This record gives sequence, C-alpha cells and structure tokens, in this order.
Amino acid sequence: HPHPIDAPAVLAWYDRHARDLPWRVSPADRRAGVRPDPYRVWLSEVMLQQTTVAAVKAYFLRFTSLWPTVDDLAAAPLDAVLREWAGLGYYARARNLHACAVAVVRDHGSTFPDTSAALQMLPGIGAYTSAAIAAICFDERIAVLDGNLDRVLARYYALEVPVRDAKDALRGALQIAVPERAGDFAQAMMDLGATICAPRAAACLVCPLQSDCFATKQGDPTRYPVKPTK
Ligand code: ADE
Repeated sequence: HPHPIDAPAVLAWYDRHARDLPWRVSPADRRAGVRPDPYRVWLSEVMLQQTTVAAVKAYFLRFTSLWPTVDDLAAAPLDAVLREWAGLGYYARARNLHACAVAVVRDHGSTFPDTSAALQMLPGIGAYTSAAIAAICFDERIAVLDGNLDRVLARYYALEVPVRDAKDALRGALQIAVPERAGDFAQAMMDLGATICAPRAAACLVCPLQSDCFATKQGDPTRYPVKPTK
C-alpha cells in the first residue's frame, strides 16, 4: 500500500489532544521553545518498555525527585536504584539504567548523545529506545515503532499477514511519513494507539486517520492485526 500516513492531520490532532504526561513538555512551553530533557525522556522510555503509562507515572515522579539529573542517578548506589525500581519488574532494566547513567556521565560529559546511532551504543538502549529519544528530544526523522504502532499500522493498511511477516514494510511506511516535527509525530502516534486505536475497541469516529484507514473501510478494525497461525 503506497498510501501515506497523513502526518499533518496526526499533528493537528496531537496539538489538541496530547496526553499531559510528566516527562513531556506542555504545549505552552513548547511554543516558548522549551525542548524535552533527554534524561527524563530516556528514563520514561526505559520504564515504559514493559509497563503501562498509568503504572509508570508514580515511579517516574519518584525517580526524578530523588535523582533530578543524570549525574544524580549515576552517583546513586545501585541498590538504592534497585529498591526504587521494585514493582516495575525486570531488574536487568534497572541495572542497565544505572550503567547507562554512569556511561553518559563518564563518556559523554553528562550529556546524552543526540543521534539514534550514538544512543544505541549505550547500555540498555536498543533500536526502539534510541529512536524514541532521538525523535522526541532532537526531532531526528526516524520511525518510532512499538507494539501499539504495529496495531495502528496493521489496521491502517488492513494488513492480511501477521505483523511479524511485514515488519520492514510497516517500518518503511512509517518512515516515509515522519515529518519535521518528528518528536510530536512519534508521541502523537503513541497516543493514538493508546487512546483511539486501542486493542479491543477502536474509536474511529474521532481518529484523524479515519478517512484513509483501510480497516475502517472494511468495517471491522479490531480484526487487525491478524494473528500468526504458527
Ligand atoms: N509509550 C512509550 N513511550 C511513550 C511516550 N513517550 N508517550 C506515551 N506513551 C508512550
């Protein structure tokens, strides 16, 4: 399917409906030129890897009040970080989190690198996290593709094969749509996946992509993504 995702429509929707989350910059601050803090964006993305936004909020606020900067986190004892992590699961993530803070301080003068390629060299930062940080903080024009986006795109293109068999095509379709406001676009698509194009219910009437969505045209968006038959 060559038909592109309507990035201007997605951005216009985001300008009105962006979720207010503690690691984001408010619309008023954004208009005043404030940029997201890579430390806070990184911390939120690592926490969000296997945990919901609702569960992450309190942990994020606790971490950033204890350790407001990457220097603070790097200087914290590992067991204090692990203790605060309790309940988020996957302790390897907390160990990598601390190792990454130490590496940023030691090897990068306490400043996060500003490209996805360089970010990916850091402990615990993989393809998804590096893309998310680079887009959100530095407007790198890179596709930020997670499980929610897989669902949105599978529906948009009425993908008749399982997502895992069309990864490259989905990534390519998303990549060509990424606009100048790459960070807002990435977060808009995440919000769309979480609040409108939800797994078991799709609020198509209020979706900015409705007019071009093939699953909507077919009448049953929740039929997608199709499951692998094994
Ligand atoms: N899930 C993962 N990263 C997110 C973000 N930056 N905003 C909302 N949901 C997310």
